Amino acid sequence: MTLKDTPVPLNQKNVILIGFMGAGKTTIGQLLAQKLEREFLDADQEIERIHGMPVTEIFKSMGEPAFRQMEKEYLVELCRTSREKIVSLGGGSFMQEEIRSACLSSGIVYHLDLAWESWLERFESLIDTRPILQSKSLEEVQDLFNNRKQVYADNHHRFAVDQLSPEKIAEAMAAQIRAGWSQD
Ligand code: S3P
Repeated sequence: MTLKDTPVPLNQKNVILIGFMGAGKTTIGQLLAQKLEREFLDADQEIERIHGMPVTEIFKSMGEPAFRQMEKEYLVELCRTSREKIVSLGGGSFMQEEIRSACLSSGIVYHLDLAWESWLERFESLIDTRPILQSKSLEEVQDLFNNRKQVYADNHHRFAVDQLSPEKIAEAMAAQIRAGWSQD
């Protein structure tokens, strides 16, 4: 018996955070999990734990396709078997159709949306730990940002994260999620 066989009540669905690198998925996800008293899972950290290697090392020694395969296996299985988690995804996960449809059909997907100008202010702090950024010009990164934004638009809710602190964003999201649960 899998989760697919029974309709999952809203308050048992995983809450899944998507968005570009540096949008604050992990920080906001942790805060949200505390507020909702739910377990938090960061997909990249879980992949690192399972495969015993940092994501940067996986990219370096095995290549991006190997990482994407690990990402898909982990997330499709998570969507199939787990409930009541707050999950932050890596910024590229949603580009894989299988991950996207598993997340959208089993969870509540929140896009943490950041304007390009705001993201640029975070760029320096991201480059060392994000292999995807390392081989690209700024123009190419902006293209990636714009292309991905179109894919992130496939969500259940969107939250602009430019103006508010992570604490305030998590608070607003928790209130919205609780309101949804109480109407279910
Ligand atoms: C990636 C984003 C990273 C990580 C990997 C690839 C991407 O996660 O999964 O470096 O393709 O955007 P964050 O979005 O948490 O930085």
